[in-house]
Amino acid sequence: MNKLIALGIAAAAVACRPEPGDPIAAYLRLPDQPYAYTPDLPAHFAQPNVLAADNTPMTNPVTDDGATLGRVLFYERALSANRTTSCASCHHQDRGFGDSARFSRGFAGGRTGRHSMGLTNARFYANGSFFWDERAASLEDQVLMPVQDPTEMGLSIDSLLARIQALPYYAPLFERAFGSTEITELRVRQALAQFVRSLMSYRSRYDDGRAQVAGPVVAFPNFTAQENQGKALFFGVTPGGGPPAPGACVSCHGTEAFAAPGPRSNGLDATTTDAGVGGINGNAAQLGLFKVPSLRNLSDRGPYMHDGRFATLEQVIDHYSTGVKNHPNLSPQLRGPNGQPIQPNFTAAQKAALVAFLRTLDDPAIAVDDRFSDPFIR
Ligand code: HEC
Ligand code: HEC
Repeated sequence: MNKLIALGIAAAAVACRPEPGDPIAAYLRLPDQPYAYTPDLPAHFAQPNVLAADNTPMTNPVTDDGATLGRVLFYERALSANRTTSCASCHHQDRGFGDSARFSRGFAGGRTGRHSMGLTNARFYANGSFFWDERAASLEDQVLMPVQDPTEMGLSIDSLLARIQALPYYAPLFERAFGSTEITELRVRQALAQFVRSLMSYRSRYDDGRAQVAGPVVAFPNFTAQENQGKALFFGVTPGGGPPAPGACVSCHGTEAFAAPGPRSNGLDATTTDAGVGGINGNAAQLGLFKVPSLRNLSDRGPYMHDGRFATLEQVIDHYSTGVKNHPNLSPQLRGPNGQPIQPNFTAAQKAALVAFLRTLDDPAIAVDDRFSDPFIR
């Protein structure tokens, strides 16, 4: 971790070499050689279920120059109507690329209808859909929706392209990323999606421990007893082995990217207050279902859930302990044998252990990684 920070600082120090007339160096602090955006992931990311969850399309693999362009676009305030708001205004590097506000403030001061989502490991979600209600069929579809949203950034695609064409640093960045200076909507989408997919959480204490053992349910040598207890609860480890205990977190927050194959209801409300996925596809059985977000880099991105109703991880655990409501579409993973919502009634020690475990999923290097930071000289 300290080594990584030191590397980041060293890279930042050599990064900026302004040359007279250089349209990039006048505006941006970028390295002469692009950063590496496709690092080797730990071996446990190479398991079939994690690979199957990777939503990178064949047509848009992450490249170093593509993600660099995406990084500039992500921090570009000219993408909002009044040039005040960038993607990073609601997706902060030091907050797991989420927001501390329950509802984020858009370019003209209006508030978003839902809580901003953390973006770390967004790449690993098997059905490839984005937003809490999964209304974007792919990340490439998603990335220009906030730009056009009347509350968030308020800019039409035509205006967006005209603005990018007028800024001198984009032509060379598009040339590096795509082989020619042509600025198109498709290229903007692809570059932004590449940057978001590069925001991977893989240097956590969980990853360190996992690399030392044969599987996720074995006690990790680098964990405290409390963290190992929380891990056993998370994975629903039953004495003597066997399938996970009912209601185990892993039954929805699955794989070692801690993402899910599709939307679920975790019983926040007894009746539908936000139609969620069902409101988009018209399927009554999916009313009140939401995307299961990855649990990587949670600590700094509270409040939690689609409406930011829980300020702390302790409140999240209280919900799963005794608060799950009997919504008609409550997912079966949270129903007991009698069909009723499960109430595991965690003890204080179990609750603290679960929170301690969730914090081991944080990759703290992300918050200070130069590859993901604001490149603009402002
Ligand atoms: C004004 C705040 C705001 C701005 C600006 C903003 N977002 Fe978001 N973002 C949100 C909110 C709120 C959500 C959740 C909305 C929902 O699900 O209905 C979200 C969701 C997302 C998601 C979905 C993540 C997932 O796992 O499904 C992605 C990806 C994303 N934003 C990327 C971007 C990009 C790229 C930009 C810039 C082009 C951007 N956002 C600008 C607030 C913002
Ligand atoms: C039935 C599937 C299911 C199970 C089991 C489950 N979750 Fe969830 N979890 C979800 C869904 C769905 C959401 C998003 C709900 C929403 O916002 O409406 C969620 C959200 C969360 C969040 C908030 C993430 C964020 O970005 O706001 C945390 C933290 C969390 N779950 C932890 C846990 C823990 C710990 C357990 C086990 C005690 C667990 N979950 C069990 C489905 C589940």
